[in-house]
Amino acid sequence: MLEIRTLYDGSGVPPSHCLTKILRETYNGDLFFSESSKRPLIFGNFVQTLDGIVSLKIPGKSGGVEISGRNEADAFIMGLLRAYADAVMFGEDTFRNAPGHVWTAGCVYPPFEKEFHAFRRHVGKGSLHPLNVVVSGRGHVDLDEPLFRNKEIHSLVLTTEQGAARLHQKYGATLPATAHVLPGDTALDPSDMVALLQAEYGVTLLLHEGGPTLFSFFLRQSLLDELFLTMAPQIVGRSRMGERPAFSGSLGLPPEQAIWGTLLSVKWIKSGHLFLRYRV
Ligand SMILES: NC(=O)c1ccc[n+]([C@@H]2O[C@H](COP(=O)([O-])OP(=O)(O)OC[C@H]3O[C@@H](n4cnc5c(N)ncnc54)[C@H](OP(=O)(O)O)[C@@H]3O)[C@@H](O)[C@H]2O)c1
Repeated sequence: MLEIRTLYDGSGVPPSHCLTKILRETYNGDLFFSESSKRPLIFGNFVQTLDGIVSLKIPGKSGGVEISGRNEADAFIMGLLRAYADAVMFGEDTFRNAPGHVWTAGCVYPPFEKEFHAFRRHVGKGSLHPLNVVVSGRGHVDLDEPLFRNKEIHSLVLTTEQGAARLHQKYGATLPATAHVLPGDTALDPSDMVALLQAEYGVTLLLHEGGPTLFSFFLRQSLLDELFLTMAPQIVGRSRMGERPAFSGSLGLPPEQAIWGTLLSVKWIKSGHLFLRYRV
């Protein structure tokens, strides 16, 4: 048992139990999302240090595990969110920094793989895994990565025309991944990405796993409904050049445009990690 404890839960009462019994007990409470019909509900998930850093930007040590300290409860919650999602989205840099990884619930928290699958069946998801969506404007995606060879996981690349041309040049006409071309020179418009996922893949719950560069595009367009934020009780500093990012990347809003949140829940474990959920 992970011994996650709930300090506060203001997320409301679901009409009936949403999570299966074992997931509810492990999460120490239920979890549900109020979906809107207009566009997919978008929820982000990050782990940060007490001083707000999400990546150390040290080769081989720049991912979330160094930030969370390989915390099991954090991995469980990541898995739970992936199990809930129709699609999980991430930028090319996050993809490149996690060789061999696939964005499934079981990959991030293997002890609960069967429970996550059972949950997806229970809520009527059409597949055992969320659609994995890699975003790369320039098309620098390594299609030889296991993600694109895995027949159980539906994956796709969102890119520009220039990016698709680069992928075709490198991998030929038959791409192992479905590459979708959207308008844009190098940067895609988040609303185009969301509209495509909704129209062509029926996505209603979209999990955004960053990184900061991609996430900041969504924040700029207010395309975020909820944020799951793990606070890891460590301080690492921004470094002299300030290159260690917060989850908001290069966003720099004036106070009158700040994105305020409403606290939905607070959980904790004895290691001192806090698990915060906000509606934004
Ligand atoms: N602690 C956490 O919770 C957490 C979560 C996620 C990531 N991370 C870490 O954060 C680091 C990566 O962050 P990052 O900000 O450098 O990278 P990122 O956002 O994952 O990826 C940046 C790349 O994604 C593509 N991209 C982003 N926005 C785009 C847009 N609007 N249109 C088209 N393409 C777009 C571009 O790829 P192209 O250059 O190919 O066009 C860009 O260079 C990694 O070390 C990762 O492990 C930590």
